[in-house]
Order: sequence, then C-alpha cells, then structure tokens
Amino acid sequence: MYDLHAHILPGIDDGPAAIEDSIEIARIAAANGTRAMLATPHRKDVTELSSVERIRDLTAELGCRIREEGIPLSLTLGMENHIDAALPADVAAGKALTMNGSRYILVEMPFFGDIEEHDYVEDALRELQAQRMIPIFAHPERIEAFQRQPELLERYIGMGMLSQLTRGSLLGDWGEEVRNFSIQLLRKGMAHILSSDTHSPRPPRTPELGEAAKVAAQIVGCHEAKAIVFDTPRAILNDEPPSYPSR
Ligand SMILES: [Fe+2]
Repeated sequence: MYDLHAHILPGIDDGPAAIEDSIEIARIAAANGTRAMLATPHRKDVTELSSVERIRDLTAELGCRIREEGIPLSLTLGMENHIDAALPADVAAGKALTMNGSRYILVEMPFFGDIEEHDYVEDALRELQAQRMIPIFAHPERIEAFQRQPELLERYIGMGMLSQLTRGSLLGDWGEEVRNFSIQLLRKGMAHILSSDTHSPRPPRTPELGEAAKVAAQIVGCHEAKAIVFDTPRAILNDEPPSYPSR
C-alpha cells in the first residue's frame, strides 16, 4: 500500500516527538503492508517553527535510519497545506511543497464554517490549478463545509480535484456521522485515496491501513479498495495521471 498522508517526521508538528517513535511508525506501517509513505508535516508548523530545508534533511535522515533498521518502507516528502491566500505563491517560492515534487498537492480546508465564510478558498484553488497543480483535499469527511454541502466537494472533483479519505474516519474514530459520510463518499466515488494521517505509533492515529482497506472493500469491492490504497496513490507519488476506480 501507499500512504500519502502521514505525520512521521519527529519534532516538527503534532506528530511524534522523538525519532524512535518515527521509526516505530515506519515499522508498524511496513508490517501492515505499507511499502511507501509520504511525510506530510503541517505547512503552518514548518513555516513558523522550522523550515523546508530542515524537513528535507529530516526526511533523508529518517529514511536512512529506516533502511538501517531493515524496514521495507520508502519515505518521501510532501506537506499538508492549510489553504490560505498565500498558498499558491508559497508553492511557487518553494515554501509550500507538493507531494513528492509532483503536480499533486495535499490541501487542508478550514475545518469549520461554510465556504462563503472563507472567500479566499476558491481563488486559491483556482490559482493552484492555473499553476497546473491538482489539489487533493485532506480528510474532506471531517470538513464542516463538505459535511453540510457534499455537492461542493462534488463540484470541486468535477473541476479535476481529488479527495483523500482518512483511515480513522472509516473505522469510526471520529464518530458515527464522519464514518457515515466516509461511506457515502466511497459509494459515490468521491474518495480517491485512503491514507492513515498517522500521528503516532500508538492508537488511535496509527499508520495501519490494512483494516480500513478491508472495510472499504466491503463497501465498494476489492477492485476499488485496491485502487485507493495502491494504484491511485502510486500514480500520484510518481506524478502520473491517477487511475480512477472504474464504476
Ligand atoms: Fe494530517
């Protein structure tokens, strides 16, 4: 499996504090069948408390430690980018990162409020697309604007954007409403990849994707479940056009 949303870098954001926990995350992920992981530290923390240079160095260092431990997991770098008016310019300036340097960018929408309350959002999304990037929404099932207006997410997907469902949402970690919305997104083909959004080797936000992939298979079948944890995230990581689940 390919996990494209993971807070695995130590001491950067609300992920692990120590590198030992980062290695443990890698070990658990690999044992659970994940072969590639994209480190996605929060843009805000990197900008305010660290630097892009620092997270590049950390990714190289952690990748080296993972290899030395004999863990079969490759590690690459991206970022979880909260959306604001400065995001398109920050990407162009190299201060905000796409996924493994690809055309795909993980975008976190405001958690609360209707879209009308955040008038910069649509302009920023359009600017990203004008720069030939493909926004991928981080955990849309947890975003109030999408919960209230699923048709908004449907419209964005119709414009060529993608969506990333989170493991814990499908397993009920964020409550029944979020779980039911996750199922609805899967059934409608509005969840293109399934990722862990891991923050720790310890529950609830572990990197284990296997169980959630099985739940997804019960909902949409094995073919589509494979697409969201394997084919599509692999294509994204390799900067190829995504292979959408066929339906
Ligand atoms: Fe995250």
